[in-house]
Amino acid sequence: MEYVVGNWKMNLSHAAAVQVARAVSASSAKLTGAEVWIAPPFPYLSIVAEELSRASVPGGAARPRLGAQHVHYEPEGAFTGEVAASQLKDIGCDFVIVGHSERRQFFGETSALAARRTLAALSHGLSVIFCIGESLSERQEGRTNQVLDAQLEALAQTLNGNPTCLDGAVRSPALLIAYEPVWAIGTGQSASLTDIKEGHAHIAAWWKKQGVAPLPPILYGGSVSPDNFAEILKVPLVSGALVGKASLDAEKFSHLARLAVTK
Ligand code: PGA
Repeated sequence: MEYVVGNWKMNLSHAAAVQVARAVSASSAKLTGAEVWIAPPFPYLSIVAEELSRASVPGGAARPRLGAQHVHYEPEGAFTGEVAASQLKDIGCDFVIVGHSERRQFFGETSALAARRTLAALSHGLSVIFCIGESLSERQEGRTNQVLDAQLEALAQTLNGNPTCLDGAVRSPALLIAYEPVWAIGTGQSASLTDIKEGHAHIAAWWKKQGVAPLPPILYGGSVSPDNFAEILKVPLVSGALVGKASLDAEKFSHLARLAVTK
């Protein structure tokens, strides 16, 4: 199964969010064989949830799933500005994006914090897209694999020793990994097919070394568009994409979903 996940980031108005959600719902109703997920900004989660539930979905096709772009690791309490996993679940979210490079870059997110968020979300029945990836300087210094390992090891350390261990997390609710080279995000220049292949292969090898199965779906993220997605989908171990800019345009995003179905 291929995943096409739209991360709207801090974009769109209320009216535009409704419009895009409605259009994505309508086009996904015609698709079977791809998971279409969208992560609007917090204020629009409920209205998008309503739009998605209103869409008539014929048998066989799956309703697009709703997710958030961030979650707090504590269950509740005095944490001004934060949102709990239980609250996201409560309003109809299915998943959350964690550890995105923009959170790492602008909001001091660390792998350890991202891992704690992952544990909280999984424990409340939310799927998690755990984002990892190297910066341009880390790649140029030849440290890509080392960076990916450190990000994954933080996750393993937090999940193992908990009821939601690494092994259990992949099963249900789902844990997905997004490989997003930081230098390919929002630049209009996706990573080369070779870079994507190497990154995904490294993540899969790390996973196998942990001795846990099955392998989580590994998505690619970074300037995915209708022009490059068909080729990216052919790369071994690519199970779909985390999409920023192209997910704001319902037509482009639906095009990506159709490409995923025909993989
Ligand atoms: P982009 O964003 O598609 O605009 O490069 C991807 C992401 O941030 O997940």
